[in-house]
Amino acid sequence: MEYDLAPPKAVGMVASLSSLGYSLPDAVADLVDNSVSADAGTIDVEFTWEGSDSWVAIVDDGRGMSETGLVTAMTVAARWSATDRSRTDLGRYGVGLKSASFSQCRLLTVCTAEGGGRWHTRTWDLDVVEQTGEWRLLHEPSAEAKGILERLTANRLHGTVVLWQRLNGYREVFAADGKTQQGFYEEIPKVSNHLGLVFARFLTGSTAVHLRVAGDPVQPWDPFLSAHPSVRRLPDEKLPLDGHWVRVRPYVLPGLQRLTPQEADVAGGPKGWLRQQGFYVYRRDRLILSGSWLSIRGLRREEKYNLARIAIDIPAETDSQWQVDVRKATVVPPVSLRRHLARIARSARTEAATTVKHKGRITARRRSGDLQFAWHVSREDDTVNCRINRNHPLVQGVLQSGGGEPADVRALLRLLEETVPVSALRVLHEPDTADDPEPFGGAVKATTEAVEVAERMLQVLLSQGRSRLDALRLIRSTQPFDQLEGFWTD
Ligand SMILES: Nc1ncnc2c1ncn2[C@@H]1O[C@H](COP(=O)(O)OP(=O)(O)OP(=O)(O)O)[C@@H](O)[C@H]1O
Ligand SMILES: [Mg+2]
Repeated sequence: MEYDLAPPKAVGMVASLSSLGYSLPDAVADLVDNSVSADAGTIDVEFTWEGSDSWVAIVDDGRGMSETGLVTAMTVAARWSATDRSRTDLGRYGVGLKSASFSQCRLLTVCTAEGGGRWHTRTWDLDVVEQTGEWRLLHEPSAEAKGILERLTANRLHGTVVLWQRLNGYREVFAADGKTQQGFYEEIPKVSNHLGLVFARFLTGSTAVHLRVAGDPVQPWDPFLSAHPSVRRLPDEKLPLDGHWVRVRPYVLPGLQRLTPQEADVAGGPKGWLRQQGFYVYRRDRLILSGSWLSIRGLRREEKYNLARIAIDIPAETDSQWQVDVRKATVVPPVSLRRHLARIARSARTEAATTVKHKGRITARRRSGDLQFAWHVSREDDTVNCRINRNHPLVQGVLQSGGGEPADVRALLRLLEETVPVSALRVLHEPDTADDPEPFGGAVKATTEAVEVAERMLQVLLSQGRSRLDALRLIRSTQPFDQLEGFWTD
């Protein structure tokens, strides 16, 4: 058989590998994958600002590599999916170390030892690859790398250091450039939050990995608030796929009224409530995708589904069915499971919508912190109960003044009418319908009427001996007056 040998060109290959779309947090997560797979007990992500000599390193105390192992590790795609891998290996393509690193820097040095403190080093200098057009893996670290590596490997017997220098975006900056320096250090919390999300399952329990970014321990983020007493777990399901089981665990988080403002803020997650609803896909306990309805038809993000979060554990043996990408950042569910996932999602969404009660509560409470509601809505079996909130400032005002003037009562009734939880009732009756039209009760429509009610409230509160400032603050924290424009100018 006649053929041409057509291996990929080094320069073009490097360019395509480095543009797979990694963000810095994604890229660091890919290296942490490798450290976790190497059974590291401690992993440090270090950031050092030195202008164009700034560097980032991932240092682990895992099992390390032999010299030949290191050369294989540095070779693009030398270990692929069919390569013999242990059950805890998070890798798949044999590309991550290179593609993640090349997306962030032009000088990659890896230094590793299996034991006894004998360290081996190899370097990819992309300038050399570009000039020679060859995959020249250098034995000698750069002069700048030497000192850093000596420090990072001192007193260690085994482990691996991955060092990124000549960082993209920082190659021509001066150390004295304060703005860029600030930008560099602002990446640290982003990386830490991302790692807390992706590796949360590795960061708790007796065998927890100690993962630090810039010296600070990464805090695991549990999207399901598993330890909260009010979180609801819907029945788990196991879906068959190719002789393996895909495990699906739906959760309905507690309504915001059951969370402290701090808890609500943390539970909202890095991307906020709306973008954190949906499926969380795990592969070997590492989170691949978070807060997505997986493009399943008919499942859209809506405020009322904010409390629905569903864990899926996919067996690594079924990777190809899920089209797991090199970055381990996307999955596409197999056709055979879509119907089941849609069904499970719908029931979690319905439950979440009944818990939310109304969308205004979430948006408004996040905005003002102590918004007052005139109604309490609850649901028992199929009955919806709407009760007046006795602690509402205006209700209190009327009660305390012994029944109140008719005008007070009228104002109160008007307020209650303004705030009938229409969307809550809609949600309860038609749980899985399209978008709510407007936040709870809508924006205040008839401005003159609303102002009249607000004025009455102000009088009641002033007559209770409150200061004008305090009274205005209270009214402003009351639905629907938080949305009343033009009233707050004084
Ligand atoms: N920190 C480390 N400790 C020990 N071995 C490592 C480390 N990092 C990489 N390796 C070795 O290098 C190999 C290549 O790593 P790389 O991330 O490029 O690919 P992978 O992890 O095999 O697959 P994927 O492309 O899915 O990440 C790994 O399979 C592993 O054997
Ligand atoms: Mg890897």
